[in-house]
Amino acid sequence: VAATVAVGLAALRRGLATPLGLVTADPAFEALNLASPGDIVLGGHDVRTQSVLDTARAMHLGSGVFGDGLLDRVRGELAAFEAEIRGGYVAQNAGNLSVSSPGRTTGEQAASLQSVINRLAEDIRDFAARNRCRRVVVVNVASTEPMFELRAEHQTWRRLAAALGTTASKRGQHGGTGNKPSTRTPSPTEGGRYEPLLPASAIYALAAIEAGCPYVNFTPSTGVDIPAIIQHARRRGVPIMGRDGKTGETLLKSALAPMFRHRALRILSWDGHNILGNHDGAVLSDPAVKASKLRTKDGVVARALGYETDTTVSIQHVPSLDDWKIAWDHVHFQGFLGVKMSLQFTWQGCDSILAAPLVIDLARLAEFHARKGVGGVMSHLACFFKRPMGTDKAGLPQQIDMLDGYVAGHAGREAGAAARRPNRRGRRGRAAPISPRKGRRS
Ligand SMILES: NC(=O)c1ccc[n+]([C@@H]2O[C@H](COP(=O)([O-])OP(=O)(O)OC[C@H]3O[C@@H](n4cnc5c(N)ncnc54)[C@H](O)[C@@H]3O)[C@@H](O)[C@H]2O)c1
Repeated sequence: VAATVAVGLAALRRGLATPLGLVTADPAFEALNLASPGDIVLGGHDVRTQSVLDTARAMHLGSGVFGDGLLDRVRGELAAFEAEIRGGYVAQNAGNLSVSSPGRTTGEQAASLQSVINRLAEDIRDFAARNRCRRVVVVNVASTEPMFELRAEHQTWRRLAAALGTTASKRGQHGGTGNKPSTRTPSPTEGGRYEPLLPASAIYALAAIEAGCPYVNFTPSTGVDIPAIIQHARRRGVPIMGRDGKTGETLLKSALAPMFRHRALRILSWDGHNILGNHDGAVLSDPAVKASKLRTKDGVVARALGYETDTTVSIQHVPSLDDWKIAWDHVHFQGFLGVKMSLQFTWQGCDSILAAPLVIDLARLAEFHARKGVGGVMSHLACFFKRPMGTDKAGLPQQIDMLDGYVAGHAGREAGAAARRPNRRGRRGRAAPISPRKGRRS
C-alpha cells in the first residue's frame, strides 16, 4: 500500500495520472484547501529491507498495475521516499511477520517502551524539520498484528503512562516466546503466555501523539483504539482515527445492508469467501493475525441491519493472484409473503490500487482537521473504515452523510474566512484543486 501511495502521488504530481479513486478530488472538497500531491512528502518506518522501488517493481511484475514506463519516470520520488525510511519497531506477538524478513529494526534494544516511543517521535520531528513540513500525518499501513486483548492498564492514561516507563522493550523479554520478563510486565494470559504491554501499532500511535501528529490506523491492528490512548490524544489535542481501511467486500456490505433494511427485506444469512495473493495475504495466513482481520470484516452486516443474522467470512491466501483479491458473497434474504431469494456477487479488485487513494484522502483530511486545531477521534471519517472508531453507524449512506456534513460545515466557514481576507494569489475564496503546488509541504 505504501509503495502504491508513493507511485500514485508522484504520478499525480507529474500529471501522469488523473485523481480517479480519490474521494477528496470531488469538487465538494475544494473549499477545504486540502494539501495537494505537490505538497506531500513521504517518509516512514519499516522493518524489511526491500526497497520501495523493488517492491513496486515486484508488484508490477506480478499484477501489471502500473502503466508502461511509469516506475522509471517516478524512480526519483521513490528513491526520495526510500531515503526517509527509518528502522521500525517490532513488538512481541507480531504474528506472521517473518514473511517480511525483518532486517531494519533498531528499536528493540531500548531500555523501556517509553524510550522506543521517544526515538520514533524524534524520527518524525527530524523528518518534518528536514523537509520543512508544517504538519506530519502518521498513517499505519504496516502488516496486520494478531488480536490484542485490553487489560486494566489500558483503561486510563495515568496507568498506561506509569507502565510504559517501566516496561522493557526488548523483543523476547515479554512476549509470545514464553520467555520470562526481566522487568515489570503484564501478568500472563490464561494460556500462560506473556503478552506485551502494547502492540507495535500502539507504540507508533503514541510516538505520533508525542510528536503532535494525527494518527490514522488503516489496518485491523489495535493502533490507537485503546481507551487510555484515546484519552491521551484528546488531552493533547491530536486527531486520531481507525480501524482498517474499507476497500472491497466490506465496502459492498456496508452499502448493500442498508438497502435491504430500507426495503424491509430480511437478511437470513450472508456468507463471504475472500482470496488474495499478496504479502498482506501471506501475513494473514497466520490464524492469530487472520482473527484480527476477520473481527473488523465481520459484524458490519449486523451493525448496519440493526439485528443479528448468520454471517461467515473467510480469507484464503492464494499466492498466484499477486496483488489481486476476489470476494464471492452469497446473501440469502426473505421478502413479501416470506419468499426466500438470494443475491450473489463477485468483486475482483487490485488490493493496493483500491487502498492507496484512500490513504491519500485520509492524510489530506487528517491534515485539515489538525490545521483546525481539533483533537480526538475523527468519527466523520467513518466511511473509510471497516470498524470505525467513535461511531456506531455502520451503514455507508449514513457514514457518507457524516463526511458530507463535516465538509459542508467547514466549507461554509472556509468560504466565509476567505471572503474576509485578501487572497495572496489575487483570487478570493477559490481553493486549490488536486494539482501541483509549491512552497508549503505536508
Ligand atoms: N490493500 C488493501 O486493500 C487494504 C485494505 C485495508 C487494510 N489494509 C491493511 O493495510 C496493511 C498493509 O497492507 P499491505 O498490502 O501494504 O501489506 P504488505 O505486507 O505489503 O506491507 C506491510 C509492510 O509493513 C511492514 N511492517 C510490518 N511490521 C512492521 C512494524 N512493526 N513496523 C514497521 N513496518 C512494519 C512490512 O515490512 C511491510 O513493508 C495491512 O495491515 C492490511 O491489512 C489493506
